[in-house]
Amino acid sequence: MSVIEVKDLSKCYTITRNKKQWFRNLFMPQKETVYAVKNIDLQIEKGASVGFIGPNGAGKSTTIKMLTGILEPSGGSVKVNGLSPSRQRKEYVRHIGVVFGNRSQLWWDLPVVDSFGLFREIYRIPSKLYKENLSLFSDMLDLSDIMGKPVRQLSLGQRMRCEIAASFLHDPQIVFMDEPTIGLDIIAKDKIRKFLTWLNQEKKVTLVVTSHDLADIVNVCRDLIVIDRGSIVFHDSMDKVADIHGRRRFIDVELSEEIVVSDDRIRMISNQGKKKSFVIDLEEISIDAVISQLSRNARIEDMNISSTPIEDIIKEIYSARV
Ligand SMILES: Nc1ncnc2c1ncn2[C@@H]1O[C@H](COP(=O)(O)OP(=O)(O)OP(=O)(O)O)[C@@H](O)[C@H]1O
Ligand SMILES: [Mg+2]
Repeated sequence: MSVIEVKDLSKCYTITRNKKQWFRNLFMPQKETVYAVKNIDLQIEKGASVGFIGPNGAGKSTTIKMLTGILEPSGGSVKVNGLSPSRQRKEYVRHIGVVFGNRSQLWWDLPVVDSFGLFREIYRIPSKLYKENLSLFSDMLDLSDIMGKPVRQLSLGQRMRCEIAASFLHDPQIVFMDEPTIGLDIIAKDKIRKFLTWLNQEKKVTLVVTSHDLADIVNVCRDLIVIDRGSIVFHDSMDKVADIHGRRRFIDVELSEEIVVSDDRIRMISNQGKKKSFVIDLEEISIDAVISQLSRNARIEDMNISSTPIEDIIKEIYSARV
């Protein structure tokens, strides 16, 4: 069942063209319409975990803002859980959680726990649920030492862990996150990724995440969307991504003799005499067949077979489409 239904969604802005000619613009402004998001169609299933990637200015944040109801679309429609995010905002926010990596939703001068208390009031979170979630999230995100500190005294990583906990306190069914790990160290990123994966798998929360760190997407998301210049240029499951591009193998060998390999299916990528590296496609030739060819006129002294890491596959899709 689709929980997010987006049809022909667009967001455009009217901007003043050529700011250098400010004097002329003063009297005769040259207006231009630019599309931040252009005719996007999208369906996201309940319980999915979807990663949005794309270059700067591609339209990721604009899309997230329209999905969360912060921005009104210029055209098309958005329905999440049957509700219109911008028009039924009051009811809608009870169902969703939102995290913007570059904007805080916590009260700057209050201790973290007091901010959490305010969320409890705003969302009318039942006492039992609040206590359960608070203790669970505090353990999982290691918040106990920072809970009593004012938000302004926290480091970026500490604050982000609190922001993320805050957005899940009311047990939302869907959570939107725009760069939730921006600027964090690898330990903090890892904690957040594990927490999000747990929420998605155990609590069946639907996750929509943007990140410039592919490791976030690979570790947390089962579906990938690539967006460029306001349009979706790729949307498929991570498994499919790995399947389509994952038949490639890199083979490094050290042979007892220098040999010539003349088979188009075994493409040489480096040649240092007895040490050679090849790339093959398993659709075209099996590893067995490669080994028998290599060992026909020499002994294999050492061999290493590796596949392309999924991050590199995504980078290839990204640079081919974007
Ligand atoms: N208020 C605005 N007025 C005019 N143009 C805007 C406005 N907000 C965004 N844009 C433009 O819309 C486009 C998409 O911006 P958006 O913030 O959605 O990109 P993004 O994919 O999130 O990029 P990043 O990776 O840098 O966060 C950009 O070209 C941006 O300049
Ligand atoms: Mg953005």
